[in-house]
Amino acid sequence: MTPPEHRPIAAYQADPENIGRVLLLYSGGLDTSVMLHWIQAEYGAEVVTLTVELGQPDEDWTAIVEKARDMGAIETVVVDAREEFAADFVVPAIRANALYGGGYPLFTALARPLIARTAVGVAREHGCDTIAHGCTGKGNDQVRIDATIAALGPELRVLAPVREWSMGREEEISYARAHRIPVSGGTDKPPYSIDDNLWGRSSEGQVIEDIEQPPPDDVFQLVTTPEQAPDEPEVVRLGFEAGRPITLDGERLGIVELIDRVTDLGRRHGIGIVDHIEDRIVGLKVRDIYEVPAATIILAAHKDLEKLVSTIHQNNFKPSLDNQWAYLCYAGLWYEPLRADLEAYMVAANEYVTGEVSVRLYKGSAMVVARSSPFALYDKSLAGFGESGGEFSQLASPGFIELFSLQTRMAQRVRNADR
Ligand code: ARG
Repeated sequence: MTPPEHRPIAAYQADPENIGRVLLLYSGGLDTSVMLHWIQAEYGAEVVTLTVELGQPDEDWTAIVEKARDMGAIETVVVDAREEFAADFVVPAIRANALYGGGYPLFTALARPLIARTAVGVAREHGCDTIAHGCTGKGNDQVRIDATIAALGPELRVLAPVREWSMGREEEISYARAHRIPVSGGTDKPPYSIDDNLWGRSSEGQVIEDIEQPPPDDVFQLVTTPEQAPDEPEVVRLGFEAGRPITLDGERLGIVELIDRVTDLGRRHGIGIVDHIEDRIVGLKVRDIYEVPAATIILAAHKDLEKLVSTIHQNNFKPSLDNQWAYLCYAGLWYEPLRADLEAYMVAANEYVTGEVSVRLYKGSAMVVARSSPFALYDKSLAGFGESGGEFSQLASPGFIELFSLQTRMAQRVRNADR
């Protein structure tokens, strides 16, 4: 392989002639394993690997580290960032009812600024001048990771070999074979492109790209299909304090454990399958298949409780800011000041989102069936068809209606005078 003749376009990109020690974001998969070898071979650079635990199920962290060492990494760092991820990224997303495009709970997007921020810290500790990652030049993740590194570690440079090397999967496998890089899993059938963490799982590529066909069953590795889910419904009770989930069926749990337990309940009942056509930041439209049981259940519960304790004006206003929050997160602008401004609003708007919500799980549906809060703006005695009383007089309603409809009535009169 000849060294890439690409010259950097942006100032934050690494200069191929001038790379000292590289921190590689290492997952143990094919791309980043080939990269680990390739960076040493092409640039004569030392490589430190960083692997970030975010609640990906079924990962063997010890095996990943051993693989990196075997392939010449001078240092292998593993950071368990599950707590930080859940508390500093997922909880804010819950307060913001965060869904992009109406269906994607942003688990990948939420993780990237944390991974990049962690990488900046580790790069500095280990004297690295460059951070390398396995993102392609077609996705959102490159935007999120590059933008965050450029914002938080302006002295660091970024190397994204997949954007530059013209190796496809086949060539990567040949490269791996030629350089004795262990390739895990079968190499016959190209796998889906998967990303997962404690807030969800996504699959892209292969037959999923055929948007005219339903996804095949083998995509679903987390959630049971609704058809195979139990015939008996199950009700879960989630407790919130200031918008943050704190209890499950009355038991107080740490946020990571709570999300894990809700994931297990949801996956059994076939909850949270989303077939999503998505507008990437780089302009492409793609299809993702998401499996997001915990997000589906927790977001439904949170939204219900938020509506119960908020006024009509707050309820009408907040969704537009929720949307803006989700967009900034999706677009990789976690460190954009507007996101911090919105965050302050989200915290304020969630001050009274305290109480309990029951969600019924049954064959793919998560339906809120009961709720309670000390801050509910709800008075059962006023809600029925009964007599006036207390703060509500039915006799006053016609007066309200007369004034409330004043401009509408006037407009009808002046605009339709001849009709
Ligand atoms: N479309 C989502 C996003 O941009 C998820 C991408 C996850 N990557 C994958 N290879 N499945 O955040």
